[in-house]
Amino acid sequence: MSGLTITPWVVGNWKMNPMQANAQQLIQDLKQQLKQNNIPAEACRIGVAPTTLALLSTQAQFSDAASEVFTVAQDLSRIAGTGAYTGEVSAELLKDSGIEYVLIGHSERREIFGDSAKVVADKVKNALAAGLHIIYCVGESLAQRESGQAEQVVLEQICDISTVVNADQWTHITIAYEPIWAIGTGKTASPEDAQNMHAKIREGLSQITPAGSTMAILYGGSVKPENAVELAACPDINGALVGGASLNAESFYQIARAFAQTK
Ligand code: PGA
Repeated sequence: MSGLTITPWVVGNWKMNPMQANAQQLIQDLKQQLKQNNIPAEACRIGVAPTTLALLSTQAQFSDAASEVFTVAQDLSRIAGTGAYTGEVSAELLKDSGIEYVLIGHSERREIFGDSAKVVADKVKNALAAGLHIIYCVGESLAQRESGQAEQVVLEQICDISTVVNADQWTHITIAYEPIWAIGTGKTASPEDAQNMHAKIREGLSQITPAGSTMAILYGGSVKPENAVELAACPDINGALVGGASLNAESFYQIARAFAQTK
């Protein structure tokens, strides 16, 4: 356990959702929830990660929300700067558009789109060089967990980026532990299993950087209002990366509230 108070983060990963009309409704509903019952940024930092297409409009729509809601890109190019790279969005372009946060290493990127450890490290390097804050996702598959390799896999994923992160850049990284078998499946790691892994991650980070004791480590994988309080009560779980439940304003709000009140 860090022993220090770490402000929790609750971030909604909208993935390849929703259609425009539903996105408008989701944003309005979330703003309404926050207006009725504000969550101060000191109690819980709230973010949403819409599609690249909706990043700027989402950011603009939340600009007058009662609580700050920051906007997160779901990915970025492994190529830095600008140039002839059709279809790509670089760290510099995100930063230039006022986007300050980015998810890197989500298991869907790694598994479906083939983001290797090298690609993930390149993305981390570019994001940091452009001055973005990263939410770096790690997590093991079911087969890896069942064969007792979960801890090793997760710590290796942290080591994969340690070579490209300078000593003073770790404060620009938040970790999200997302066991792959718990993503979108309705299965959540038990609070004990999640806490154990988070404690190992903190131990591993602390060996690499003094910032390890104060870095937020989020849990992701079927987080819902029903399990958020229990997860929030774990000492090394400093927030949540929420997929499915973040597409419902009430559920997402309840999760943020659980972390704000429990931490
Ligand atoms: P889930 O997704 O909450 O739908 O399991 C989490 C994630 O992939 O970030």
